[in-house]
Amino acid sequence: MTSSGSPVVLGVESSCDETGFGIVSEGTLLGQGLASSASQHAEFGGVVPEIAARAHVEAAVPTLRIALADAGIETRDITHVAATSGPGLATAVHVGLAAAKSVAWALDVPLYGVHHLAGHAAADTLEHGPLPERSVVLIVSGGHTSILAIGDLVRDPIEHLGDTLDDAAGEAFDKVSRLLGLGYPGGPAISRAAVDGDPQAFAFPRALLRPKDAPFTFSFSGLKTAVARTVEKLERAGEPVPVADIAASFEQAVVDVLVTKALRAVRERSLDTLVIVGGVAANARLRAVAQERCDAAGITLRIPPPRLCTDNGAMIAAVGDLLVRSGASPSGLRIAADPSAVLHGAQLPLPQ
Ligand code: KG4
Ligand code: ZN
Repeated sequence: MTSSGSPVVLGVESSCDETGFGIVSEGTLLGQGLASSASQHAEFGGVVPEIAARAHVEAAVPTLRIALADAGIETRDITHVAATSGPGLATAVHVGLAAAKSVAWALDVPLYGVHHLAGHAAADTLEHGPLPERSVVLIVSGGHTSILAIGDLVRDPIEHLGDTLDDAAGEAFDKVSRLLGLGYPGGPAISRAAVDGDPQAFAFPRALLRPKDAPFTFSFSGLKTAVARTVEKLERAGEPVPVADIAASFEQAVVDVLVTKALRAVRERSLDTLVIVGGVAANARLRAVAQERCDAAGITLRIPPPRLCTDNGAMIAAVGDLLVRSGASPSGLRIAADPSAVLHGAQLPLPQ
């Protein structure tokens, strides 16, 4: 603890192509540093694990320094360390976890292994304060798409209402971007292209929305295939591909399904708050449509600002800070990377 007795928690994120360090104290973000290797993956159309891992090694110390300077603190002021220990790319998670262990060991402070997706949910608390007693959380990232019912993020078990059967929403953006020749990462690229497009131009499928379908389960691979077929057909006919219209119509189809199912979950649970987090929550159309439909339904919508939607260290520090304040036992230096960890709780268990 600092002289004031408040914890100062360093969060470390390295599960994909962002190297993030954030510093949080009692729900307040003090500062952060963020480096991305996205441009190094662009020519491959997706994240290359070995390149990501090497980039984390190179970025770790400089990015930590930026976070410390941003927060106006010294290394010795850190009282606790939290790191993503899963899920994510194994090689990438290992680097951040090793960095976190080094800091925790050198400073002799407690270390917590954190679930990356709990970090996405916690990111919102940095902007909008503590979560309500219960809420529905829609997580939309590059690797996951889930509707959750949560109570206290770090004390209560996390209930999965539904997940995706195939592609995650972000993955669908990335794949469609690639087939439209818009590059990686696909989300921001599609979003930019869609600005000038007509979202009604193409009637792309909205999967699993019929009454007999699983109410909170998603599927995006059919949508991706429908976009691919449309592009192929136009190219075969020698017609120009209306990229903006396709991007806008695809985006609208994804957003429709996400918002419809998330609102259904809030209503079914008789709750009044929807939280949308993860990289795809940075999407302007998703934010606008969700706001409009939540306003109409009298539901409170919480979405972190775009810079806290995509991967960052602050969100992991936010979970660490909540764990510390709830009196959770530290994971210690035995915590290991769990690349395919399922989200049951905010803190990941120690290996058996
Ligand atoms: O949460 P995140 O940063 O990393 C993972 O945990 O996967 O999410 C990354 C995903 C990528 O698929 C990226 O294309 C998508 O989020 N994304 C977006 C936008 N910004 C990032 N998707 C749609 N619109 C955006 N503006
Ligand atoms: Zn993420």
